[in-house]
Amino acid sequence: MTTVRGILFGAFVTLALGGCSGATQAPAAEPPDPLALTPIVDRNPDPGVVELDLEAKETQKQFGNTPVSRVWSYNGTVPGPIIDAKVGDRLIVHFRNALPEPTTVHWHGVRLPATMDGSLAMQHPVMPGGTFTYDFVLKDAGLFWFHPHMRTDVQVEKGLAGVLRVRGAAEPAADEERVLVLDDVRLKDDGTFPTFLDDTSKMMGRQGNTLLVNGVVDAAITVRPGAAVRWRILNVANGRFFNLRIPGVKWRVLGTDGGHFAKPYDADRLLVAPAERYDVMFIAPSAGTVDLVGEPYDRGHDSGNDPPVVVARVRVAGAAVASPKLLPTEFPATARRPDGPADIPFVLDEATNAAGELEFTVNGAAYPKVPTVTVQRNVARILEIKNLSEMDHPFHLHGFFFQVLSTNGIPTDDDRLVAKDTVVVPMKSTLKLATVFDEPGMWMYHCHINEHSEGGMMGEIDVE
Ligand code: C2O
Ligand code: CU
Repeated sequence: MTTVRGILFGAFVTLALGGCSGATQAPAAEPPDPLALTPIVDRNPDPGVVELDLEAKETQKQFGNTPVSRVWSYNGTVPGPIIDAKVGDRLIVHFRNALPEPTTVHWHGVRLPATMDGSLAMQHPVMPGGTFTYDFVLKDAGLFWFHPHMRTDVQVEKGLAGVLRVRGAAEPAADEERVLVLDDVRLKDDGTFPTFLDDTSKMMGRQGNTLLVNGVVDAAITVRPGAAVRWRILNVANGRFFNLRIPGVKWRVLGTDGGHFAKPYDADRLLVAPAERYDVMFIAPSAGTVDLVGEPYDRGHDSGNDPPVVVARVRVAGAAVASPKLLPTEFPATARRPDGPADIPFVLDEATNAAGELEFTVNGAAYPKVPTVTVQRNVARILEIKNLSEMDHPFHLHGFFFQVLSTNGIPTDDDRLVAKDTVVVPMKSTLKLATVFDEPGMWMYHCHINEHSEGGMMGEIDVE
């Protein structure tokens, strides 16, 4: 009996070779999963602490058949690593900036002390060669992500985005679970990123010509026949909205950014705007390959006429699941926050400034000229987000979840009340959001189309 130990696909695999015949009796090694996100190395033995090194650095990556591109990465991969933790864990991230320009790390959707939030309202930029330690406790279960909060239109586009998955005590049971990071990049034929934006990209946010699932072009997502599949979907694109459909498959929509719906609902389509997350399940088909399609969605300026795209192929393979887990039918209900007159009004619009440049505005001004809103701590507040422009804006608030009370005066169904941190404010529409600012400090809010926030649609809330 001989044992051959080799490094295959980065993992140690032991192959047992039988007797003199040399016949291999061990099952064939599983091929590597090209869609696997890189797990972080937790260097702290304490089960209640996740401690890691995170470095932003330039690296090389080949997108499909395009010549090799120079990308910006966390720890060398695009997308960055996945940090797995559980509610109550303390997360310690030793960050180092090896990029040629300043950056920060923002923990999107995470409730944390303002000094750890990674926005320039609360922290100095981490200069090239500089370091910063992020250290906070994870209060909530959910799928969160991290990305820079400087020149986001460039830094996120170049690849800086990673996943933080925080598990709660009662996670929905599934036969298989995957995190899908949806993205697109705009690549020139030589593999470089264009430096200047065309007018459409300035207006709509940069839409790429190369679609990515977990950094892979032409991705094939494998599901087992008949399995109850759970997908945690995150859109890290600068501007693209993914209006997802799998022909013949119904999504059971369990939840979104920071929580679950009291009554998960079934849907044919799932709209995921930049920075939003959705937690969905479905029963995989019994055989074959189907497309995960991105259908046209009108988010303004004729975008509804864009052709459908194939985001990925869904390939049914492997051992069939005879008795799949049941799709969840209920979660604990979310209490409705009280409605009332809006006391924080934000009007979103687009404008042309004196220099003739396109600007995106909040209450008539472009950041950093948007006046700061000051609020008292621990008081229930109602934000009214009125979108006067001809396009949708995904509105994001740092550090707090909010509840969407109503859309154009129509109250949200009880079953759809949920903790969100990013919400689509459709063109020519008004949303009322309720929240309680329970952490002091300066907090940012902005449109999560990165060209829009960099173009002025951003502001600060000072919680006293
Ligand atoms: Cu995901 Cu202020 O950002
Ligand atoms: Cu916007």
